[in-house]
Amino acid sequence: MTTQHIGIIGAGQMGQGIADVFWRAGHTIYLFDADPIRLDQAYQNLNERLERAIDKGTESADEWEHFLGRLVVCIRLSGMASCTFVIEAIVEDIDVKSKLFPDLGNVVDASCIIATNTSSLLVTELAVHIKNPERFLGVHFFNPAYRMPLVEIIPHAQTSAIASDRAHALLTEAGKTPIVCTDSPGFIVNRLLLPMINQAALLHQNGVATAADIDSSMKLGANFPMGPLALADLIGLDTCVLILNSLAKACCDTYKPADILLNYVKDGKLGVKSKEGFFNYP
Ligand code: NAI
Repeated sequence: MTTQHIGIIGAGQMGQGIADVFWRAGHTIYLFDADPIRLDQAYQNLNERLERAIDKGTESADEWEHFLGRLVVCIRLSGMASCTFVIEAIVEDIDVKSKLFPDLGNVVDASCIIATNTSSLLVTELAVHIKNPERFLGVHFFNPAYRMPLVEIIPHAQTSAIASDRAHALLTEAGKTPIVCTDSPGFIVNRLLLPMINQAALLHQNGVATAADIDSSMKLGANFPMGPLALADLIGLDTCVLILNSLAKACCDTYKPADILLNYVKDGKLGVKSKEGFFNYP
């Protein structure tokens, strides 16, 4: 595949990880975030990860200049104009995402594929805000995006075969394993994972066991590589609450977030990104 201009909207933890995947795969990245501080932080983090890869010998130091020339920080959405593929990875809020898409449609060419990294919103509901919705689909990465192989591809009823095939090819070439699933609340992984995280939070809330013991139980008894509460911290407790709320709305009250999750978020304890959640990250 030839080098493409890939737009990433949202430079939070997922946007940065997705940018890293396609940057390392040789594409030119256009990164935009509404918050200039996040954008600056993302640029620094991407460069630091590249530096570490060069130190480890997994990237060549000779490529440094070439890498820098392929990372474009956009201070306006209009910076995405030349993109052939754009992935939205902004906050999990249907109103915020719905406002972004019409603006994006006015910036990019009609042939540009537009994808959402939503964790729990229906792709079909987001598609109504897209100009030429046949080029729109879900591509759901996992955290950290540069390490996790799976990407769920979620076409909606109008998604064209061209858009799905292009997404599939781009992801496969970048070393990912795409799995196609029908648009449905939480797709595959989050539909199964988030109820477990919520139940783990409830066990801790009800004093059944400490957070460390809940996680150890799942690691030692179910062969999990990491416990559900550490995973919740990694995902971001705010993002977990937003996903659970959308699942509760679409499915049933079983998905209603545990009070302990709501309280942590209210207190600004968001997990790894705020250095405190179920565990501390000094
Ligand atoms: P985050 O909170 O780390 O980053 C979100 C970013 O979006 C922030 O930098 C914020 O400034 C920016 N933003 C908000 N509104 C914007 C707008 N209108 N225009 C441009 N930028 C805007 O969130 P995170 O974790 O990166 O999640 C982003 C998306 O990825 C969400 O839809 C989430 O559900 C999804 N996701 C999250 C995963 C996780 O483990 N955290 C895993 C897979 C998907």
